[in-house]
Amino acid sequence: MRRKIVAGNWKMNKNLEQGMNLIDEIIKLNSSENVLKIFATPFIHITSAVEKIKDKKDFAIAAQNCHHMESGAYTGEVSASMVRSSGTEYIIIGHSERRSYFNETTPLLVQKLNIALANDLIPIFCVGENLEDRNNNNHLEVIRQQLKDALYHLSPADFSKLIIAYEPIWAIGTGVTATTHQAQGMHNFIRSEINKKYGKEISENISILYGGSCNAENAKELFACLDVDGGLVGGASLKANDFTAIANSF
Ligand code: 13P
Repeated sequence: MRRKIVAGNWKMNKNLEQGMNLIDEIIKLNSSENVLKIFATPFIHITSAVEKIKDKKDFAIAAQNCHHMESGAYTGEVSASMVRSSGTEYIIIGHSERRSYFNETTPLLVQKLNIALANDLIPIFCVGENLEDRNNNNHLEVIRQQLKDALYHLSPADFSKLIIAYEPIWAIGTGVTATTHQAQGMHNFIRSEINKKYGKEISENISILYGGSCNAENAKELFACLDVDGGLVGGASLKANDFTAIANSF
């Protein structure tokens, strides 16, 4: 059975006190234990965040990034092994903001994936097309290529550890959400591509999250889609009530 997951990507928001208050509030609000709630916090919050959720099976912490090398003279950077040693279990890789604002290319993402997996972190790997690709009806091909170029070097054992997040770039932070038809269509396509490469068992068991203006109002209909296993949530993850309502939308 695929795990139901709601991950909050805080991006560069909340100071330490605000962030820890948010976690406290969300824990207090009570959400279904069957849903894994992940907080992808800024690096500097991670140790405190891990402490808050350490006795809770239905909560986990993710990093939003790591460096692609194991260690060395890379001033200001954070390695995968540092992230893992803090008690963090997950890591977001391939987010469109990192691809576009920080020039993260596919070869770099491959290095980050490999080093994350080597350090026992579970990657939440993001794919997504831009508006032009969608309007030109190239979206399926773009996603097929993103999956192939970044992930298909992985062994079946490593691939099966991944979580995939489909985040159409045109839906991120815009208030424009994919329709259920668009989300289900793409999630089903991703699962069928994975089936072709890695087989039925792996494709049926991998969690595929939707991201892009997911909120307390639209989460229910998105999560009702057969191939949507949860969400990667930006803006709405910064409010305790909204994040909890999304987590309770299955
Ligand atoms: P929004 O939910 O703010 O659109 O952000 C989505 C996202 O980028 C999550 O990684």
